[in-house]
Amino acid sequence: MTTNPRKKIIIDTDPGQDDAVAILLALASPELEVLGLTTVAGNVPLALTSRNALMVCELAGRRDIPVYAGADRPLLKPLVTAEFVHGKTGLDGPTLPEPTLALADGHAVDFLIDTLMHEDRVTLCPLGPLTNIALALAREPRIAARIERIVLMGGGGFEGGNITPAAEFNIYVDPQAADLVFRSGVPITMAPLDVTHQALTTRARVAAIRALGTPLGEAVALWLEFFERFDEQKYGQEGGPLHDPCVIAWLLRPELFTGRDCHVAIETASPLTQGMTVIDWWGVTGKPANAHVLGGLDADGFYALITERLARLG
Ligand code: BDR
Ligand code: CA
Repeated sequence: MTTNPRKKIIIDTDPGQDDAVAILLALASPELEVLGLTTVAGNVPLALTSRNALMVCELAGRRDIPVYAGADRPLLKPLVTAEFVHGKTGLDGPTLPEPTLALADGHAVDFLIDTLMHEDRVTLCPLGPLTNIALALAREPRIAARIERIVLMGGGGFEGGNITPAAEFNIYVDPQAADLVFRSGVPITMAPLDVTHQALTTRARVAAIRALGTPLGEAVALWLEFFERFDEQKYGQEGGPLHDPCVIAWLLRPELFTGRDCHVAIETASPLTQGMTVIDWWGVTGKPANAHVLGGLDADGFYALITERLARLG
């Protein structure tokens, strides 16, 4: 019997420039087998996140990756989007051709359930609101015991929120979905704003990506330059946080990160703090940990990894 040395992953995503870089990082990495992408409404509506996911696969020359469209709105709340960060397409920056690839037939939630019921040891990588993952867990609870791990970008601890003072965007958009996921018993690694705010797109780091001298390197540099402008102004610093690639980088190089196991609860009700991730960093509740929460990052190592992997895509 041969064993697959590659880690099987499904990326659930709402591209988003930072989602796009995360997808490229995964597609460029031989340690990972990307079984498919599932799209969700988040940064922009579902039709655009689906289009953008297809564009990214085409840019990477990976027409073999199936892309399934998923939920077009959160479980209970009306959709909140973030064009003010990502631009009206969600992937503003470079001018890229419209995708010629088509979406795979079927719904993302069916793909998630079918794949998880038939494949062992699949890791889920959610980079947007957790709607698809929650729907899959609710429809087929047996997948909870079969998921290897959920490695997600979302939430904030000491750093607070980015869409409200208390809440990070992905969790805020669908707090009911996040609550279901964090209560599911599936092992979770969480990359909150505390760690992603260390992954800054400084001039030198973007220049290194541009210096790859490839169309893909130029497209990524233009994405980052577009995407960082909002947060540079907001936080008054050089570069913006490159959130979502932290998920893939943790799978590839966990030693670039520090973190600890904590209990994490999601506020679903309060109008003031809805979507807040209440992280028991100091263990004051005595509740058992349900997530490995990342807190520290070797940012130079992180960008060296991204740049080296993007070079492989040509
Ligand atoms: C998260 O929200 C989106 O804008 C980004 O793509 C990232 O997933 C950061 O709060
Ligand atoms: Ca995202």
